Amino acid sequence: MKKDTLLARAGRDPARHQGMVNTPVFRTSTVIFPDFESYEARGGDGGDDYKQVRYGLLGTPTTFALEEAVARMEGGHAAVAVPSGLAAITAALSAYARSGDHVLVPDSVYSPTRTFCDRQLKPKGVETEYYDPLVGAGIDKLIRPNTRAVFCEAPGSLSFEMQDIPAIAEAAHRRGLPVLADTTWGTPYFFRSFEKGVDVSIHAATKYIAGHSDVVMGVIVTNERHWLAVRRTVADFGFGVSPDDCYLALRGFRTIGVRMKQQMASALEIARWLQSQQQVRRVLYPALEGDPGHAIWKRDFTGAASLFSFVLQPAGDRQVAAFVNALELFGIGSSWGGFESLAVVARVERYRTATRWDPGGPTIRLHIGLEDPGDLIADLERGFAALQKA
Ligand SMILES: Cc1ncc(COP(=O)(O)O)c(C=O)c1O
Repeated sequence: MKKDTLLARAGRDPARHQGMVNTPVFRTSTVIFPDFESYEARGGDGGDDYKQVRYGLLGTPTTFALEEAVARMEGGHAAVAVPSGLAAITAALSAYARSGDHVLVPDSVYSPTRTFCDRQLKPKGVETEYYDPLVGAGIDKLIRPNTRAVFCEAPGSLSFEMQDIPAIAEAAHRRGLPVLADTTWGTPYFFRSFEKGVDVSIHAATKYIAGHSDVVMGVIVTNERHWLAVRRTVADFGFGVSPDDCYLALRGFRTIGVRMKQQMASALEIARWLQSQQQVRRVLYPALEGDPGHAIWKRDFTGAASLFSFVLQPAGDRQVAAFVNALELFGIGSSWGGFESLAVVARVERYRTATRWDPGGPTIRLHIGLEDPGDLIADLERGFAALQKA
């Protein structure tokens, strides 16, 4: 099946649900077993029997429908839904990092991942080393005898440096290390993680998977080798997701293809327009020809998320505030991947420890939604006019 067909088919089984097109919302905590023997044989918290309904926390047919659809789209062995994208990150890292271990994390990483490493892993004896996201095969030199995992995020979700995941994975695998990657930007639709060397793929399903800014959720997809370690860690933490949220996320996921193709086309149009604006110094978007990450993006991805940044010519806080405050269609708010456009000032320099971030002006991150791109450009023009005045 081609991926758009798979999107319409995966995670559905009308014959099992009285002909209903969608897997309904199954709510439960307790599951009643018919007899002593079947209760005794109910199975553990992972492995091949993970889809057996045994207790609400471990999933219902609604949860399994979403997990199956995401895993099949991405080409992974299996998936598990967790309460947030950040929970997906912390559970995945916790599956590997033990006291005395060393983990490698890119300097461009989503900042709460960094906070988790510094505030939770460090006191438990795990050393995190932040590396230059552009290190590529050079990651080999950073691997120590006690390194347990290599974490990636491609591209960084504020600064958009594109990582060479296949090169990093080759070096990591040569040393027997798993590659964990935050693939929220690529999505299961535009990035086939496992073909690129990822072992554990982490999604903030909050973004494009759910796609409507009404769900907070994470999904971890793994290859067969890493499934048990990850699924058990999620169970050990007691992470479970409401079936209502799983239903909403799967409903959103069905249309990820049309949404992302449309949003990518609008994002490219707007990014190219921004490149021609006097007040713009640079646009940071690997989907643009001329971006330093373009060749890797073209090789590894089949499309681009509609999230990118641009760097203004040198401007003070007052001017940046005037720009952002003049926008009427772009909301000011965290997150991305929904149907609506957003703008935030990206304070990238605050989170760097291994590399320097100095692009020569303030950085603004845009998420392009499903609005008409012409209207969005007119909105940005309003912003630039206000910036000029300020
Ligand atoms: C790249 C990236 N990963 C993970 C997350 C975390 O997702 P959530 O907000 O669902 O915890 C975010 C959220 O902004 C993100 O941008």
